[in-house]
Amino acid sequence: MELAAVILAAGKGTRMKSDLPKVLHPVGGKPMLGHVLDAVARAGATQRIVVAGFGARQVIDFVGNDARVVLQEKQLGTAHALLQAEDELKDFSGDLLVVCGDTPLLRGSTLANLARHHRETGAAATLLTAEMADPTGYGRVIRAANGNVARIVEQKDASPEELQVKEINTGVYCFKVPGLFAALKEISPANAQGEYYLTDIIGIFTQRGMNVQAVALADAQEVQGINDRIQLSRAAAVLRRRTLDDLMASGVTIVDPNNTYIDQGVKIGRDSTILPFTFLLGNTEVGSGCTIGPGSKITDCMIGEQVEIQYSVAIASRIGSGAVVGPYAYIRPGTVVGEQVKIGDFVEIKKSTIGKGSKIPHLSYVGDAVIGEKVNVGAGTITCNYDGKNKYQTILEDNAFIGSNTNLVAPVKVGQGAVVAAGSTITEDVPPNALGVARERQTNVENWVKRRDSK
Ligand code: UD1
Ligand code: CA
Repeated sequence: MELAAVILAAGKGTRMKSDLPKVLHPVGGKPMLGHVLDAVARAGATQRIVVAGFGARQVIDFVGNDARVVLQEKQLGTAHALLQAEDELKDFSGDLLVVCGDTPLLRGSTLANLARHHRETGAAATLLTAEMADPTGYGRVIRAANGNVARIVEQKDASPEELQVKEINTGVYCFKVPGLFAALKEISPANAQGEYYLTDIIGIFTQRGMNVQAVALADAQEVQGINDRIQLSRAAAVLRRRTLDDLMASGVTIVDPNNTYIDQGVKIGRDSTILPFTFLLGNTEVGSGCTIGPGSKITDCMIGEQVEIQYSVAIASRIGSGAVVGPYAYIRPGTVVGEQVKIGDFVEIKKSTIGKGSKIPHLSYVGDAVIGEKVNVGAGTITCNYDGKNKYQTILEDNAFIGSNTNLVAPVKVGQGAVVAAGSTITEDVPPNALGVARERQTNVENWVKRRDSK
């Protein structure tokens, strides 16, 4: 049976106090809506429809090809919101998950389980419910004497006895699509909030003797809706911990999970160790046996095996196996650090390729360079890659040796095995195996101090 999903996300999210629609607030590396889209996809929803209202333009830009977006111009209630998806589903005869866009902790496996139960029981509707010690604010699940679900009553419409019920409606459902939209149109806004409640569909179905099921959620935290930035930070902590727990379970050592920030989807190999105050973000992969941190921020990088990185920042780069980086290195986008390379302290590398076994150990700026294998770049070497208008390339061939405090004025090339004398400003190519010297020769003036002092 084919599965589709509608994500209700038209609300403004007033309590976020933000210009950004609530569902686009990022948590754990992506917008809340992104997590929900992932969860429904993981549950097997092949068609995904987002109901947007406030900030619809931004929502459309974000979802791209991951979902279709329909507009709910006025927020007349959750039933009215779901009705906006009718056109998109008019040829669809499978099952439909309905979820909210502000529940980033909801797991794909929970939704898959809900859909499975729905199918197995042949239900017209299946609710995801949870027991809450404090159910205030939620719709309550009212059951008949035989234990079957009878209807849902909202907090504001509930009688004192109904308010005692601890089983709540999580706002997550699975429906059979045939007949659903016709029934939604029967819902009236005759209630305390004057809204078209999606929850009323349950009573409509049960009164007709249709099969309505409920699946109880073990971990109620999963359906916690995010309404303000305090809840957002708590959800971030939960997501972070889940990611770290998964990594630890797969053989990664996280020394201090309270001070380690790893985005969902980051891959790390076995026996790697992540030290405190480290951020591994975006589309990053770390091989096995690495030690990353303390104090590093790595975004969108591919890192090989047995790499060591401490107190460093790396962005959109590749770092080969056996490389040692930092402390205090800054590796900027487009850099390819080869195997066994050493990038030392206070070194900035931008858009450069560094061959196997080369060393840039101290205080250098290397930009737009192509560096061969086993090159030694002395302390304080600077590529002068920019003339104020254009950027130029520096080439250092295999086994070149660049003396300390050299300026390499690009475009320029130092040939294989060549040596550049310390303190040189190299403006012309140095041939292979040559010595390039480009500085004033030292002159010593004998007895200069004595003559000065006798004046
Ligand atoms: C809803 C349920 C309640 C349940 C709770 C779980 C109804 C009537 N009640 O209440 O039983 O316990 O969720 O969190 O459904 N939305 C729209 N358009 C609208 C109205 C809402 O897109 O016109 C979206 C919101 O952006 C939000 C979601 O639907 O993502 C839920 O709406 P909300 O008003 O927060 O419903 P609750 O009062 O929380
Ligand atoms: Ca809500």
